[in-house]
Amino acid sequence: MKLLSNKIIFLTGGSRGIGYECAKAYASQGGKVIVASLDKKDIDVVIEELGSDHFGIVCDVSSGESVRNAFETAVQKYGRIDVIHNNAGIADPSCQLHETTEEQWDKLMNVNVKGIYYTAKFGFEYLKQSNGCILNTSSIVGEIGQELHAAYTGTKGAINALTKSMALDYAKYNIRVNAISPSAVWTPMLEKWNREQPNGTRENMALYLNAIHPIGYCPQGDVVADVCTFLISDMARFITGCIMPVTGGAELGYRFVQNGNSINDVSMRNNAS
Ligand SMILES: NC(=O)c1ccc[n+]([C@@H]2O[C@H](COP(=O)([O-])OP(=O)(O)OC[C@H]3O[C@@H](n4cnc5c(N)ncnc54)[C@H](O)[C@@H]3O)[C@@H](O)[C@H]2O)c1
Repeated sequence: MKLLSNKIIFLTGGSRGIGYECAKAYASQGGKVIVASLDKKDIDVVIEELGSDHFGIVCDVSSGESVRNAFETAVQKYGRIDVIHNNAGIADPSCQLHETTEEQWDKLMNVNVKGIYYTAKFGFEYLKQSNGCILNTSSIVGEIGQELHAAYTGTKGAINALTKSMALDYAKYNIRVNAISPSAVWTPMLEKWNREQPNGTRENMALYLNAIHPIGYCPQGDVVADVCTFLISDMARFITGCIMPVTGGAELGYRFVQNGNSINDVSMRNNAS
C-alpha cells in the first residue's frame, strides 16, 4: 500500500521548484494531484509528466474568485479534496523593509498569506467532509529572520502563526494543519534571489549556501517533498500544529567557520586528510 493511495491533493504552486518535486512525490505514492498554479505552460508540462490521473488548473491564489473556481473545478472532477498544500509563494523584494514599495508589500502579503486565507475559505468544507489536512509551505527565515528580506520573512512568520491557530481551530473537525519550514533549496526562486544579491556576494553564493547548512550542502526540492509526503500521509495522523524544519540544521547555534566557510563544508571534509 502506497503512503498516499487515492488521496486527492490540491497543491498550489506545483508547476515549479519545491511544488513540482512535491507533485512528483505525491503521485509516486498513489496521490492524485491537482496542480493549481499560475502558468499554463509549466502546468501542462507537469501534468504530461505525471499522467492522466492528475489535473492542472490555472489559479492565482491571490484572487478569491480564482481559488473558488479552482476548488469547484477540482471537486467536479474528483468528487472530494483530502489535502490542501499551500505551497505557492513569491520572494521579492530583496531589500530592507523601508525600501519595500507598498505594491511589493501588498503583492507578497496577497500571495503568501492571503492565498492561505482563500484556500481555507473555499476549501474548508471539503476538508471537513474528508477529515483531510492542510500543509503550508513556510520558511525557516520566518522564525530566525534574514538580512535584506524583511517583508518576505514577515509573510513566513505569519504562516507559522496561522498554522498553529488553524491547527487549534480545526482539530475538532479532525483536520490536521502543519507547515514545512525549509532553509535554502535550489529552485527558480532561489536562483532569482541569488541574482538580486549585492555584488561580491552573488559570485560566492553557492559556497555560502552550502556553508549555512551544517549537513554541508544546499539541497534540491526532493528533500522537502519527502517530508511533505510524510506530513500529509496517515503516518502523521497524530501530528498537528507542527512547523517542521527541513534545513540540514541551518538554524542551529554557533558554528566554526574558516575564511567565511563552514569548516564542516562537505568539500572541506572530503579534502581533509
Ligand atoms: N527555494 C527556497 O529556497 C525556499 C526556501 C524556503 C521556503 N520556500 C517556499 O517554498 C515555496 C515554493 O518556492 P520555490 O522556491 O519552489 O519557488 P518557485 O518560484 O520556484 O515556484 C513557485 C511556484 O508558485 C507558483 N506561484 C507563484 N505565484 C502564484 C500565485 N499568485 N498563484 C498561484 N501560484 C503561484 C509559481 O507558478 C510556481 O509554480 C514558496 O512558498 C517559498 O516561499 C522556498
